[in-house]
Amino acid sequence: MPKTNTTIIGLQWGDEGKGKIVDSLAAESDYVVRYCGGANAGHTVTVGKEKFALHLIPSGILYEKVVNVIGNGVVFDPEVAIEEIRGLRDRGVKVENTNLLISANAHVVMPWHKQQDKLSETRLGANKIGTTARGIGPCYADKANRSTAIRVGELLDEDALAQKIRIIGSIKNSMFKSMYGSNGMDVEKIVEQYLEHGRYLAPMIRYTGSLLREAAESEKAVLFEGAQGSMLDIDHGTFPFVTSSSVTAAGVPAGTGVAPKHVGRVIGIMKAYTTRVGAGPFPSELDNEIGEYIRKAGNEYGTTTGRPRRCGWLDVAVVRYAASLSGIDMLSVMLLDVLTGLDELKICTGYRTAEGTFEAYNPAIPEEVECLYETLPGWKENITGCKNFSELPENAQNYVRRIEQLTGYPAGIVSVGPGREETLKIDIPPGN
Ligand code: IMP
Repeated sequence: MPKTNTTIIGLQWGDEGKGKIVDSLAAESDYVVRYCGGANAGHTVTVGKEKFALHLIPSGILYEKVVNVIGNGVVFDPEVAIEEIRGLRDRGVKVENTNLLISANAHVVMPWHKQQDKLSETRLGANKIGTTARGIGPCYADKANRSTAIRVGELLDEDALAQKIRIIGSIKNSMFKSMYGSNGMDVEKIVEQYLEHGRYLAPMIRYTGSLLREAAESEKAVLFEGAQGSMLDIDHGTFPFVTSSSVTAAGVPAGTGVAPKHVGRVIGIMKAYTTRVGAGPFPSELDNEIGEYIRKAGNEYGTTTGRPRRCGWLDVAVVRYAASLSGIDMLSVMLLDVLTGLDELKICTGYRTAEGTFEAYNPAIPEEVECLYETLPGWKENITGCKNFSELPENAQNYVRRIEQLTGYPAGIVSVGPGREETLKIDIPPGN
């Protein structure tokens, strides 16, 4: 069978379990590529008894033969990347310039971006976005601003880099002082640190666009690893409570340099329920003991910030909306096991407002909208040991089948536990 490209997209507010599916598909891939976001992502992969939490390094790093690429659309934090590379090497994982490449055109997250993220959130108080404080928004803002941006390729020219850091650093220090009354940063220390980072990372930095285009057009299998979820997309998410990049399949060409027709098959990853970290609308949120039950059973705490995640019933109107943004080919339903033990399960199928009822989600719906729920019976049996879809209790099978009916997409993968082997493959359609 000819190899195909695959794009993995989160269909909710992030944390859908993308890392696990990327990990399982990486085994058959030649390249695994990040195209959006930065160290705000947290992809957890469990191999045997070992757990790997990756923020910047693509999840394919656990397979030696896979070439992992951090694309130009990513905002790249050298401090986080180096810590992650060292951590992986310490645990015996190979990380060399043969299996990790960083686009010279990706933008560098500088210490002032993280500082600004924190200062801005503190100043906003109750109106804050609830960011991960990783400097994501300020770095993308500088990318759009151009004159105050630094790209990864610039880490290689020491004299020019030192000069640029001094100029931008002094601008940022004036800004911090006048806007927030905050002390300036030690720019000379930043110069020293970033020259050092550049030396460490130099072997892995290159222009990755043509390499990826060639790979994506050939018989190679390229896996594009989405970060965050579609509802956090800068344009199509619940603005302003979103991240600062294009996280849907539309972000792949811009964030890597491949042509749109080479994104391949698109797999939409969704939890069997819904979670969200940070502020913003969440129609099916459960601020009660059922939400607490889900948080405990699903260990719903942020991989990046450790914050408790807000939990709620599955909202298929959100999933349908997100799936249509990326034109997905199939669903992957994650964390089904977390719902085990609940007497009944509710699925939000649409909404009611003062104007009436409607089924389609759109970003303009008011925050305090009422959900229309359908109720299904739950199951009590432990499903983590199930090896096939047909081994699941009837009510668990019916829950998944109802998701397929309500969304209009087939569920090709169902996950019943964190481990690689706890994944039921129902039917994966060949790529397009
Ligand atoms: P930022 O991306 O750090 O600016 O955060 C903006 C919003 O996106 C906040 O609500 C974050 O909690 C959320 N966010 C960013 N990255 C992730 C992620 O990987 N998973 C879940 N939420 C995220």
